[in-house]
Amino acid sequence: MYDGDIASVLITEQQINDKVTELAKQIDDDYRDVHGDLLLVGVLKGAVMFMTDFARALPRPAQLEFMAVSSYGSSTSSSGVVRILKDLDRDIADRHVVIVEDIIDSGLTLSWLLKNLESRNPASLEVCTLLRKPDAVQVDVPVRYVGFDIPNEFVVGYGLDYAERYRDLPYIGTLDPKVYTSGI
Ligand code: PRP
Ligand code: MN
Ligand code: MG
Repeated sequence: MYDGDIASVLITEQQINDKVTELAKQIDDDYRDVHGDLLLVGVLKGAVMFMTDFARALPRPAQLEFMAVSSYGSSTSSSGVVRILKDLDRDIADRHVVIVEDIIDSGLTLSWLLKNLESRNPASLEVCTLLRKPDAVQVDVPVRYVGFDIPNEFVVGYGLDYAERYRDLPYIGTLDPKVYTSGI
């Protein structure tokens, strides 16, 4: 699949699996005194694989909501411009909300999203991200749950795209620079 486009496998399917289970157990433990269903807010489209795996790994009931925002378009670096493409369907006031993200790159998307959701008065609001690039962060965002800190390279797979491609890879890989220098 995508022969030659992937330079290296950064995180295998098995490593993703193990991490999802670990994060789900940790969150289950941290929210043991919270009653009622958790509300997971997945950030489309990148978080979709992580969201569905995470919800199934979580040993307690959770409701699933989605928001679609976009910061990249099809380029490989953040513009800082966040657009709401799809808002939540429901009110999150007094709910225990966990934002589920695939990656924190510059932090601009999440910093904006946290402010936006905080203003809707949830009972609590935390972030669970599978990936974070510490060297790319431009705004500091309080993130309670992080799967992997990764180098500042362009990565795809397991929900992450380049120009809408590669989301369907079951692992996280680095993209061969020839793909984004050839001018799609
Ligand atoms: C990507 C990624 C995160 C965000 C991280 O989404 O899925 O949501 O960018 O970047 P930042 O920390 O620099 O803001 P994108 O806007 O590409 O939309 P997508 O999820 O539909 O691919
Ligand atoms: Mn995204
Ligand atoms: Mg994207």
